[in-house]
Amino acid sequence: MRLSARLLSLGLLAQSVAANDSLSRNSTYYNPVLPGWHSDPSCVQVDGTFYCVTSTFISFPGLPIYATNGQQEGMFAASIRHRRGVFYVICEYLGVPGKNSGVLFTTTDPLDDDAWSNPVTFVAPKIDPDLFWDDDDGGKTYVATQGIQLQEFDTLGPHLYKHGAYYYLLIAEGGTALDHSITIARARNLTGPYTPHPRNPILTNRGSAEYFQTVGHGDLFRDARGSWWGMALATRSGPEYRSYPMGREAVLFPVTWEDGDDGDVWTVLQPVRGKMEGWPLPEATRDVPGEGPFNGDPDVYDFGEGHGGGGIPRNLVHWRVPRQGAFSLTKKGLQVVLGRNRLDGLPGGTEEGAGAISFVGRRQTHSLFSFSVDLEFAPRAAGHEAGITAFLTQAANIQLGVVLVGKQLSFRYNASGVIKTSPVPDKWAGKPLRLKIDMTTPAEYTFAAMPAGEEKSRVVLGTASSELLSGGTGSFVGTLIGVYATCNGAGSGLDCPAGTPNAYVKRWRYMGEAQYVSATDKIPVKKGNPTPGW
Ligand SMILES: *[C@@H]1O[C@H](CO)[C@@H](O)[C@H](O)[C@H]1NC(C)=O
Ligand SMILES: *[C@@H]1O[C@H](CO)[C@@H](O)[C@H](O)[C@H]1NC(C)=O
Ligand SMILES: *[C@@H]1O[C@H](CO)[C@@H](O)[C@H](O)[C@H]1NC(C)=O
Ligand SMILES: *[C@@H]1O[C@H](CO)[C@@H](O)[C@H](O)[C@H]1NC(C)=O
Repeated sequence: MRLSARLLSLGLLAQSVAANDSLSRNSTYYNPVLPGWHSDPSCVQVDGTFYCVTSTFISFPGLPIYATNGQQEGMFAASIRHRRGVFYVICEYLGVPGKNSGVLFTTTDPLDDDAWSNPVTFVAPKIDPDLFWDDDDGGKTYVATQGIQLQEFDTLGPHLYKHGAYYYLLIAEGGTALDHSITIARARNLTGPYTPHPRNPILTNRGSAEYFQTVGHGDLFRDARGSWWGMALATRSGPEYRSYPMGREAVLFPVTWEDGDDGDVWTVLQPVRGKMEGWPLPEATRDVPGEGPFNGDPDVYDFGEGHGGGGIPRNLVHWRVPRQGAFSLTKKGLQVVLGRNRLDGLPGGTEEGAGAISFVGRRQTHSLFSFSVDLEFAPRAAGHEAGITAFLTQAANIQLGVVLVGKQLSFRYNASGVIKTSPVPDKWAGKPLRLKIDMTTPAEYTFAAMPAGEEKSRVVLGTASSELLSGGTGSFVGTLIGVYATCNGAGSGLDCPAGTPNAYVKRWRYMGEAQYVSATDKIPVKKGNPTPGW
């Protein structure tokens, strides 16, 4: 297996919880705490810092991945755990037909890419593995996966916790869409028998009118003060479930242990809403270990001469493993070498050929945002193309590219196959072009162009419904916003013919503008981020 040990550079997000005991009042915060595509969150708190891991599927880097055919294979539903100074990330790798396998990585320093172990694989025909140590049984290690047979039901996606005299098994049930829910069962012995909570599910927005739907796949953890919390995934779709281009986002909810009807202690999970109240939270701080931008930070990247070291920013990802040398920082800017395949992975079409997609982007992390790049690109043949995209999967994406139509430099807008071409105005010739995506309503993407720095010359080239980038082939993933470049199938193997011009990006901006916390309420993103993670 070609698995990189370069783990978690994006999948892992640290949030500080430096305990401040003078802050003892309950807190108010907004969900999602990790907006944008962050499904299947799993968290631990160690020495006051929360470490969370989310599924990255076939985006790269993140959880490590290698080329697969499916749009929703790769690294699935990891759990992160900590014991005696060692962090463990356990997950399931899908994509080798008939050979799904469990993968375990360990480290004592989760923020150092190189410190992660090579993967240990184990037989795990089911997804969603968790690790649990039974301290009452000499520290024996257990792996729990989806499909554990319990007495009363088949489980999905289990996590195990010990609280008081009981073992609690937290289970994701009901599929991952509108029926998604969390149930719990309890046993005095780790191996059972487990008794389900009399009022399961203990967390769901199933059948409700809530803006946050598909709440499920949760994990519980304690903060530095000992208070319990949970993270789960949710989609901001409302019950209509048609427009949710950011896919499955990570939400936070307080957890309490209360006496149930049976007079015994059960877990109570607070329902997931946009505006939440819960245990005291520490003050927001940017003083946390690790490198790279915060999830809610804007991108203000001026590539080219003067771009500070450190390489390609760590929040930028690829779709599948990129070709060697396809992306590099040069004096002319971020150089993107055209890939033979289009964004749909064709015409290469093979498992390997699909790796020739030249795409670099970042998660859409805001309901409303503005993204633009200044592109220097001079196509010399009909197939040469470079541009920007809002990308959910190879089958569902919106592109605005620069191409030649005959000898005329032109824009080609392509909303999942609905194509419009228009000439680049003559007076823009020779200037770098600014290509822009604006979302001024959650319902619609607007694609526009102008000469770099001349906002007044802005021309709208296409608008598309956000429903185009919701669910369907991308029900597990979320929209990425970025740049692509292709020679549309010329050349052979993975490469375009020799002499194909490169595309260069100098100025790259992503500015979050607002988050919707209900179907009607939006919170503007102020400087200084009102909620950590925004
Ligand atoms: C704790 O919070 C209080 C109230 O916000 C603040 O005045 C104090 O400086 C904080 N202490 C530490 C150690 O961060
Ligand atoms: C727990 O398991 C042990 C053996 O491992 C058994 O002796 C004991 O009766 C079990 N307790 C319950 C409550 O099932
Ligand atoms: C503080 O939040 C916790 C967790 O939601 C809740 O159980 C508790 O009742 C709250 N306390 C107050 C005083 O509101
Ligand atoms: C338009 O986009 C779709 C989806 O990515 C793709 O299959 C198709 O080939 C594109 N058309 C052109 C002309 O690039």
